[in-house]
Amino acid sequence: MRMIDLRSDTVTQPTPEMRQAMFDAIVGDDVYGDDPTVNKFEALAAEMLGKESAMFVPSGTMGNQVSVMTHTRRGDEIILSDASHIAVHEGGGAAALSQVMLRPLHYDNVLPEPEKIRAAIREHGNVHYPRTGLICVENPLAVGNVVPLETLKEIYDIAKEHKIPVHMDGARIFNAAEALGVEASEIAKYCDSVNVCISKGLCAPVGSVVAGSREFIEEARRNRKILGGGMRQCGVLAAAGIIAFEKMSKRLGEDHANAKYMAEKLSKIDGVTLDMSSVEINMLFFKLDRPADVINTLPDKMLAENILINGIEDGEFRFVTHNDISKQDIDTAIEVFAKIIG
Ligand SMILES: Cc1ncc(COP(=O)(O)O)c(C=O)c1O
Repeated sequence: MRMIDLRSDTVTQPTPEMRQAMFDAIVGDDVYGDDPTVNKFEALAAEMLGKESAMFVPSGTMGNQVSVMTHTRRGDEIILSDASHIAVHEGGGAAALSQVMLRPLHYDNVLPEPEKIRAAIREHGNVHYPRTGLICVENPLAVGNVVPLETLKEIYDIAKEHKIPVHMDGARIFNAAEALGVEASEIAKYCDSVNVCISKGLCAPVGSVVAGSREFIEEARRNRKILGGGMRQCGVLAAAGIIAFEKMSKRLGEDHANAKYMAEKLSKIDGVTLDMSSVEINMLFFKLDRPADVINTLPDKMLAENILINGIEDGEFRFVTHNDISKQDIDTAIEVFAKIIG
């Protein structure tokens, strides 16, 4: 039985074209630098992200962690949002692996505030303070908002003024690019390293890519090895990455339009509070005014109708559209949802 899976875009199935490319991929030992498909994917990623070099990694988490490790020294402080993936959803990896301290900033409207970042930079040369070793930004944010280019530029300018590198968690950078109507490289130019996932809306089964200067990526390869991310014949995975970047990055507008379509339908249902202006990419968040038992049993009741959703988190439900969700699936899901919540 086919499920309608609205939990995340990480659930996407590799497309038939990807599966064929994976089957056909010419591979080699990538730790020796011998895998032609990985080399092709890395060159493509570097080019599309406007960086000198790129490196394939097994996951977005490793992409972020290897970047933190490469930019920083023990005891450094990294400035980032208190809602960011690195701060909240990577198991404390920055402390465990790179021995850095987090300086999580709270942004009132979730979007990064350059002046708060400026104020958080430690005075250079004062031995009492940790060194500000890195500034991290996301685009889009893990909660689906898109950061305007001007804000990224402001942050980057502040960072350069203080000679501090900027890492961008661009797990869904192509969604941000689609929403802003620019190439991904226009976004990535405001950072020194960027992590881009291929296994989310881009439908590849596994992996992420980190891009940056040649020198940075050379050092990052050593750190990837330390973290156990040196993969051998991983051209079978990179083959899907090539299609993800070249082709699937161009179709995300469809997911964004579907998210807006679903949001409009949801917002008409009694008890649903949904801010249409917050639907910027393929994610929508809403509150549901129903008794706790209706809210808590909703995922199981939807599951019984072959629709997968996550439980409520921080008072909100999140639905995500992707390549395996059609308009008709949305109609079905909303009909079932409305029926269950009465
Ligand atoms: C913004 C963001 N960054 C990083 C990641 C980590 O990716 P992975 O699950 O491949 O480790 C995710 C995963 O959902 C994410 O949403």
